[in-house]
Amino acid sequence: MPYQLTDEQRQRYREISQRSQRRKLELTSCVAGEKAVGIEPAGRLDPADLMPLQPQHGLTTLSLFSGGGGLDLGFERAGFGHLASYEILDICGETLRLNRPGWSIFSGVDDGDVMRASFSKFRGVDVVHGGPPCQPFSTAGKQAGEKDARNMWPQFVRCVREARPRAFVAENVPGMLDRKFGAFVRDHIVVPLADEYIVFKFKLSADEFGVPQARKRVFFVGFRAARDAARFEAPRPTHGETRDLFGPVLPRNLTRQSLGLPDIGFDCVSPTLRSGFTGPRKTTGVVNSKASLKTWASLGIWPNGVQSNRALARAFVPENGHHRMTVDDCALLQGFPADWKFAGAVYQGLGQIGNSVCPPVAYAVAISVTRALGALD
Ligand SMILES: C[S@@+](CC[C@H](N)C(=O)[O-])C[C@H]1O[C@@H](n2cnc3c(N)ncnc32)[C@H](O)[C@@H]1O
Repeated sequence: MPYQLTDEQRQRYREISQRSQRRKLELTSCVAGEKAVGIEPAGRLDPADLMPLQPQHGLTTLSLFSGGGGLDLGFERAGFGHLASYEILDICGETLRLNRPGWSIFSGVDDGDVMRASFSKFRGVDVVHGGPPCQPFSTAGKQAGEKDARNMWPQFVRCVREARPRAFVAENVPGMLDRKFGAFVRDHIVVPLADEYIVFKFKLSADEFGVPQARKRVFFVGFRAARDAARFEAPRPTHGETRDLFGPVLPRNLTRQSLGLPDIGFDCVSPTLRSGFTGPRKTTGVVNSKASLKTWASLGIWPNGVQSNRALARAFVPENGHHRMTVDDCALLQGFPADWKFAGAVYQGLGQIGNSVCPPVAYAVAISVTRALGALD
C-alpha cells in the first residue's frame, strides 16, 4: 500500500524531498546568472600540453567525415594547413565553424555529403584524412560490414583516387581488424589503393598518448611515394609503464587526477566513452558497457545525466555523492583542450565527443606522417 510507510521510510523520503528542494533553489540561482565560468576544479589536465603546437610546414589536409573535429584539430596542431572539411551533420559543421571560423566547411546533406561531392578540385592536397562511419564494424553494432548501407569506405577510396594526395589517413574501430573483416579490408581498402599507395595498418591506445581514457582505434595510412613510405614509422607511445627504460617515458594520465578531483585513494584511466551511435537516442550518459559501471563507481564518478556546465552539475549532486560530469569533463577525457567547444544540446556534444578520434592520438599520427613526408626531422 502506497501510504503505509514506516517512520524510518517517512523520514528518508522527507530528507530526499528537502534535498531536492534545496537543489531546485540552487539551480534557480545558476540559471538566474551564476554561470560556470571560473569554478572548474583547479589542477586539471590541459590536453593542449599533449599536442605542442608545431609551426606551419606548408603541408595541407582535406578532411572527410569530420564530425566534431578530433582528426582536424590533431592535424592542425601538428602544423598542417586545412583546405576543407566535409560532414553530413549540420551540428558538427556548427562545431567546426564555432571553433575555426576561418576554415572552409561543407556541412549538411546538401553541401557536406561525401557521396555527392567531387574531389578532383583538391588535386595537390598533401593528406586526405577521415573516419568513415564505423557502425558497420563496431562491436556495439551488428557488424554487417560491407552489407551495411552506412559503409562509407568506397567513398573514402574514391576521394583518395580523385584528389591523389601524397598520403591518406583513415581511422576506424578495432573491430575492423577482426578476422571476419579480413576480406573486406583487403578487397575494399588495400586492393583498390594498392596500385597507387603503400598501405600501413596499426592499432593505437589513447591512454598511451596521455589521454586519460581506455580507447583503441585502428589506423590505415597510405603513401604514394616509396620514399615517403620508407620513412614512415607508426607513432610510439609517449605514456605507459615508466619502469621500461626503452618504453614510454611518462606515466599514464588518470581520470580523477586529470579532472582535478580530490584523491580518494583510487584512480585509473576512464572506461571508453560511449560512441555517439550506441545507446538510446538523446541520452546524456557516457556508459559504454555494463562492465564499465563498476569502474565509474570505483572512480566516484557518475556517468549519467551529464550537464552542460559546472554550476548545473553541482546543483544536481547524485544521491551517492559522486562527481557529476559536464560536457567539458567528457571532452577532456577524450583529449580535447578546454577551448574547443561543441555546438548543440548535451546529447549532441557527447555524440560528437564519443565519435571523435582523440586529438592527441590524431596529433601523434600527423607528426609521424609529417616526418614521412620529409617536412620534419
Ligand atoms: C566516426 S565519425 C568521424 C569523427 C571525426 N573523424 C573526429 O575525429 O571527430 C563519422 C562521421 O561521418 C559523418 N558522415 C556519415 N555519413 C556521411 C556522409 N555521407 N558524408 C559526410 N559525412 C558523413 C557522420 O555524421 C559522423 O560525424
